[in-house]
Amino acid sequence: MRKRRRAQSIRVTLRRARQRDLAALVTLELAVFKTDIVSRRSFRHFIASPRAPLLVAEERGGLAGYVLVLYPPHSRLARLYSIAVAPHVGGRGLGPRLLAAAEAAAKRRGRRAMRLEVHVRNKRAIARYAKSGYRLFGKHRDYYDDRGDALRFEKPLGRSVNLD
Ligand SMILES: CC(C)(COP(=O)(O)OP(=O)(O)OC[C@H]1O[C@@H](n2cnc3c(N)ncnc32)[C@H](O)[C@@H]1OP(=O)(O)O)[C@@H](O)C(=O)NCCC(=O)NCCS
Repeated sequence: MRKRRRAQSIRVTLRRARQRDLAALVTLELAVFKTDIVSRRSFRHFIASPRAPLLVAEERGGLAGYVLVLYPPHSRLARLYSIAVAPHVGGRGLGPRLLAAAEAAAKRRGRRAMRLEVHVRNKRAIARYAKSGYRLFGKHRDYYDDRGDALRFEKPLGRSVNLD
């Protein structure tokens, strides 16, 4: 069997989102989601909120992706609320990188696990989560605006190790 060639991984800078990223975030959101689209107003709120760090991936001055994690108060869990990679850079390792950055941030905040919901028909995202170590633990029926079910995934984040 021939070996499948891996696409070249993408070079990006990860940083906190700023208000001036708003237009690009909305454009990306509309390009990748058909249902439950995060509104401009919500993005504005998330960017300003210390409870919901929004990380963006910048590639040559353009927005290549984002990941948004929520930290419910009085909980040891973090919630991966949304993740998106621009279609023109898909399959080049950015999804895994954004996931890893979100997990590292949640771990630094002392959260023991990351949880997320994904549309039952979103095969690509489901495959990504499974490969990145997420385990299916439940389902929400009639969860999305299009009445689709959500699969619930969780990944333990492990203990923070102090090597000093
Ligand atoms: C789901 C989503 C974030 C995944 O992002 P992605 O970067 O395209 O991730 P993919 O799993 O498709 O591609 C990763 C591939 O990049 C390739 N790759 C290249 N360089 C790599 C690297 N350095 N590290 C890891 N993978 C690399 C690999 O082929 C890898 O696939 P593999 O793990 O099967 O080997 C993206 O498809 C997306 O934005 N979808 C639309 C929005 C959405 O559905 N969001 C989820 C809502 S719950």
